[in-house]
Amino acid sequence: MPSDSEETNPPIVSLRGINKRFDGRPVLQGLDLEVETGRSLVIMGPSGCGKSVLLKHIVGLLRPDSGEVRFHGQRIDAMNERGFRPIRRRIGFLFQGAALFDSMTVRENVAFPLLETGQAGPDLEQRVRETLDRVGLADTLDKMPSELSGGMRKRVGLARAIVLEPEMVLYDEPTTGLDPIRGNVINDLIVRLQRDLNITSVVVTHDLDSAFQVADRMVLLHEGRVRMDGTPDVLRHTSDPVVRAFLEGREVSDGSIDDPGIGAHTSEEPETLRP
Ligand SMILES: Nc1ncnc2c1ncn2[C@@H]1O[C@H](COP(=O)(O)OP(=O)(O)OP(=O)(O)O)[C@@H](O)[C@H]1O
Ligand SMILES: [Mg+2]
Repeated sequence: MPSDSEETNPPIVSLRGINKRFDGRPVLQGLDLEVETGRSLVIMGPSGCGKSVLLKHIVGLLRPDSGEVRFHGQRIDAMNERGFRPIRRRIGFLFQGAALFDSMTVRENVAFPLLETGQAGPDLEQRVRETLDRVGLADTLDKMPSELSGGMRKRVGLARAIVLEPEMVLYDEPTTGLDPIRGNVINDLIVRLQRDLNITSVVVTHDLDSAFQVADRMVLLHEGRVRMDGTPDVLRHTSDPVVRAFLEGREVSDGSIDDPGIGAHTSEEPETLRP
């Protein structure tokens, strides 16, 4: 476990009473959540329950219909794009499916945030190399994303997410679709970044092995709210039927518990994007 201190750190992000609907259908329904500074929070829940939607509220890619999002205590939910830009630089986002630019080399992908934010100084090449080195991919600089394995693409995505040295990184399904060995490489990286660079981690995952490896704290989303919030041990030993069903790989829908389905999760966004 990355951290064993019992003290509670102040929140880097807090979400209060978040409601979000799409086409009249509620996804987040009065969601409250605090992300502790310097710790790792794992967010779990069945496919379609709103995990990616929740992450997108933290970086202003989505705005709540009602409720408050705060970053270091400052309201950010009603900010305009311009106001949001400096905040987004402090938060790295590893998108579901890595979302690399397929027409760019690895070097160009990792350099992109530096160029986009006007931070491409004479040390650009060095910063790109150092960041790729951190994820163990220093020898892939000139490769195209299509030449890399899924696990390597995720690591390049991770390098791109941390190249601006963010305070917090949001990981959306960082190990989904990877075999256990490649998944463990990612888990180790998440833990190391948190420990060595003091990066707050928020990890959305279906992968229970990964969740228990990286979490200081875990939450389970259910019906648009946090159903359970606690340490991995608390979750492991809970008698809450919804949490138990999730941990045992049985689908939970509308309060009823039935067939398997969680393990069969495959939903992924495209692996590559065009700028
Ligand atoms: N931009 C959007 N427009 C309309 N509906 C959306 C949008 N984004 C998300 N949704 C809907 O909101 C719900 C929650 O989506 P979300 O992507 O957060 O699920 P998830 O929990 O991340 O699922 P998965 O585990 O499959 O990634 C889904 O029903 C989805 O179709
Ligand atoms: Mg998702």
